[in-house]
Amino acid sequence: MSKDIHVRPATEDDMEVIQEIYALEVTQGSVSFELEPPGLNEMRRRFQAAREAGYPYLLASLGTRIAGYAYAGPYRSRPAYRYTLENSVYVAPWARRRGVASRLLEALILECEALPFRQMVAIIGDSANEASIELHRKAGFRLVGTLEDVGFKFGRWLDTVIMQRHLGPGAADGPSPTETR
Ligand SMILES: CC(C)(COP(=O)(O)OP(=O)(O)OC[C@H]1O[C@@H](n2cnc3c(N)ncnc32)[C@H](O)[C@@H]1OP(=O)(O)O)[C@@H](O)C(=O)NCCC(=O)NCCS
Repeated sequence: MSKDIHVRPATEDDMEVIQEIYALEVTQGSVSFELEPPGLNEMRRRFQAAREAGYPYLLASLGTRIAGYAYAGPYRSRPAYRYTLENSVYVAPWARRRGVASRLLEALILECEALPFRQMVAIIGDSANEASIELHRKAGFRLVGTLEDVGFKFGRWLDTVIMQRHLGPGAADGPSPTETR
């Protein structure tokens, strides 16, 4: 793993590069099930919404360049899911295979464990995404299963691979002594 990797909270100023990294994945990859890359304003809006809701959003640089980012958000919106997060991590093609995503994911997990969340879910598009599956396995996620042919992009059906890990004590105890519903 490179010693030049630095992870810190993302800021509004990072959104331009983050938008470029994500747009490339939307237009060329099957990890994102979006078909049109969101523009800078939309990426800024999503970032602000995540920050205002208190979800971690991290940026990694390699040397002097922005190399990737990771964030966590709600897994699903119904309130009983409130202790479960979904994570996302993206690394620019030039910076891959040097430990950037591992560092981002490790830091993201630590940040989420400092908050009251108990489970983290990765929804990986698609089942051919060996890089993401291995990255998550190494970060302590286990394979839950595969939803087959649930997406359609680039003229083919796409699976999603679901992986999960607990955060902190997981389900070993309740979220708080007073919370019963
Ligand atoms: C998946 C992704 C984030 C990995 O980023 P990265 O910085 O290259 O990952 P790391 O260097 O930290 O690699 C960690 C481990 O993941 C696995 N891995 C990473 N890239 C791999 C590849 N191309 N093939 C197989 N395994 C790979 C390896 O086990 C690796 O450990 P190792 O290098 O010690 O063997 C990056 O490829 C990416 O941005 N892909 C497109 C977006 C994406 O799929 N995001 C995940 C969304 S859930």
